[in-house]
Amino acid sequence: MWDFGRELKLKINNQSYRTIWLNKDDGGRVELIDQTVLPHEFKVATLTSYRDGIVAIKDMWVRGAPLIGATAAWSLYLAALEGQESDHGPEFMRQAGQELCAARPTAVNLQWAVDRVLGKLEGNSSWDTRVSTTRAEAEAILEEDVAMCEQIGEHGLSLLKEIKNKKGDAPVKVLTHCNAGWLATVDWGTATAPIYKAKQNQLPIHVWVDETRPRNQGAYLTAYELANEDIPHDIIVDNAGGHLMQQGEVDVVIVGTDRTAANGDVANKIGTYLKALAAFDNGVPFYVAAPSHSIDWSLFSGHDIPIEERDGKEVTHVAGNDGGQRREILIANETSSARNPSFDITPARLVTGLITERGVCEASETGLAGLFPEKFQGS
Ligand code: MRU
Repeated sequence: MWDFGRELKLKINNQSYRTIWLNKDDGGRVELIDQTVLPHEFKVATLTSYRDGIVAIKDMWVRGAPLIGATAAWSLYLAALEGQESDHGPEFMRQAGQELCAARPTAVNLQWAVDRVLGKLEGNSSWDTRVSTTRAEAEAILEEDVAMCEQIGEHGLSLLKEIKNKKGDAPVKVLTHCNAGWLATVDWGTATAPIYKAKQNQLPIHVWVDETRPRNQGAYLTAYELANEDIPHDIIVDNAGGHLMQQGEVDVVIVGTDRTAANGDVANKIGTYLKALAAFDNGVPFYVAAPSHSIDWSLFSGHDIPIEERDGKEVTHVAGNDGGQRREILIANETSSARNPSFDITPARLVTGLITERGVCEASETGLAGLFPEKFQGS
């Protein structure tokens, strides 16, 4: 059973936040942190319809697999409110679910959350019960996400302690890619949860933060989180990881995942695969923090995972803060086009282990079946 008591809730200007919540005075407003303007501005955005939820996911006001799922769940609650108000037919919810699922293709949490919420509606015949059911399910998804990430933190902490025991006094040096942090989930993060646990347990730690071009989730978001929690870190360019590993400056790599296949192949932010190759070559352990809702139990190869291609403008342009003013500037040759695959697949053979909410396992069907036997029954 989940222990729902333990939250991290990062503090921004001395106020604690989750990344998404229902407005406590107005049940028609879902609020979330707009991640497109971080770290230079802290802005809360409001969703009042499921269509707003689609925009928030597509335009990456929210991103990170678990948070995308949580946003989809709340969006379906907003759809149920709309259905109640306009007295739509029952098909309306299914339509809203389909539109939400089309917003981004790679993170399996999106389809998972939509299926889970819509599954609860089967047999519901009134809009009143659809509203209360979707709300209860969205709330449950949020609470479970917090509890799962916290458990990942505990299991990851054990790994960090083992490394520390072998190392002596020096801090454990963790390299992470993209943002698999508090901002990618509801609280704690997946790859960052062991890091936050380490901090709480006075285990000295240093984090190498891959900047993560083209959208810079590392430089903008992971660094922002770590700075807020006073965790020593340095932002590095994406190409520096291999060199640092050769120099013995990386003890462990921990990344997140948008979709892990049932054979242990991992889809994560573009560039993850190169880090895994470098880690393998240098004998550095490479762990993937993988909550079970990011595992696609229906796929047995990473090759079947759909890879999102985003606008080339994310490659040719960069956004930043120019004396308090947000600006986007062209950094490439103006007449060149750009390709922008957003995720890549790291084969299971390069993954030292998956850190799940039930423990750490080998990245393989056998490893996963050991922790989640119910998912393999009948397959
Ligand atoms: O494109 P994004 O920012 O949604 O990509 C996010 C990632 O790749 C994360 O590493 C992944 O979702 C794991 S988040 C806990």
